[in-house]
This record gives sequence, C-alpha cells and structure tokens, in this order.
Amino acid sequence: MKLSLEVNGRARDIDVEPRKTLLDTLRDDLLLVGTHAGCEHGVCGACTILLDGEPVRSCLMFAVQADGYAITTIEGIATAPGELSVVQDAFCETHGLQCGFCTPGMILTSHALLEQNDSPSREEIVEAISGNICRCTGYGQIVEAVELAAERLQKANMPRKRHANEPVEDAGEAHGSPRSGLLKASESDVPPGDGS
Ligand code: FES
Ligand code: FES
Repeated sequence: MKLSLEVNGRARDIDVEPRKTLLDTLRDDLLLVGTHAGCEHGVCGACTILLDGEPVRSCLMFAVQADGYAITTIEGIATAPGELSVVQDAFCETHGLQCGFCTPGMILTSHALLEQNDSPSREEIVEAISGNICRCTGYGQIVEAVELAAERLQKANMPRKRHANEPVEDAGEAHGSPRSGLLKASESDVPPGDGS
C-alpha cells in the first residue's frame, strides 16, 4: 500500500505491506532506528513513539493505521541535529541512562507527560514511566531526570505566567501545544557551566 506518513514534521511517502508494523516501517523503510525493537509484543516500551502527542507502542500497530496522524520519533524531539530537548538534556545530566536501549522510549514518554503536566509529583512520574522497562538504571536517575526537566520547564514558564493578562495574540502560545516550544532545550535552559 502506498502511504504518506507525517514523521517528525515531514511528509514521507512509502510503499509498505499492510501487515508491516509501524515499528518495522520506521526502522526499515525510514531508517529511523532510534525507535528500538525490544520485546515486539507490547511489554517493554522500547518502541514508544508519539502519535499526535500521545505515547504509543509502535510494535503494536500497523503502519497503515498511522495514516493521518503526526508521528514523532526520538529523532524529531530536538529542534535541530546536534541539539537536545530539555528532557534529553536532563537525562544526560542526571545519568538517566546506561546502555541506552530503553532511553528513546523513556524520553518520549517523559516528554508526553511534561506536555500535559510540567510539575508532576514523583508518584506521577513513576506512574507515567511504569510501562517502560529499564534493565540498567534502577529507575531512580530516570525519575530525577524528569524532575529536573520539569524544574527547568517551570522556570522557563515563569515569564509567561507574569504576563498572563496580556492578549492571547501577544502570548505567542495561541496555537498548538502550549509547552511544545519549551520542551526544546536551548542555551537559556542550561545553567551556566553545564555545557562543559
Ligand atoms: S518493542 Fe514494543 S513494547 Fe517492546
Ligand atoms: S539504560 Fe539500559 S535498559 Fe535502560
């Protein structure tokens, strides 16, 4: 079947068998191998991608089912090659990864959580990542990474909150996800000295 998928903001035309999973299509046809193949039956969360902003397991859906949805993979979470999103940066800083196999799924799941809630409690973070299995870290540093990313998002949101009475068109947040721009790391998100 000929499909036109929207992946990381780009239209991608592909020809796939109807039985091919979205996971295999992303990896084999689009060469987006940051989406990892773990259990391939919906248990580990390594294959997590965002479908219209919601984390889903790409091993459990066919590529044809993604037609019409906006797909985000780990390759599309930062603003540009060589840059990190706020969540990616926090995972690096807290050592929230070891082998890295679970990491793309963990980051996308955490990104989706923070899009909905930029001040989650520890319990809410644990609950959000409970469907992603990590065999290395013991989870503590992953939770710390999400807490750090949340803290930085809250700081980044402070100026916007001070101007809450401004007209909507001046707030620059009228369209799309209210925090999506803030989930991209920039120099201003990184405290002095962190770039060393
Ligand atoms: S590879 Fe999809 S949940 Fe494990
Ligand atoms: S860092 Fe190795 S599985 Fe999570």
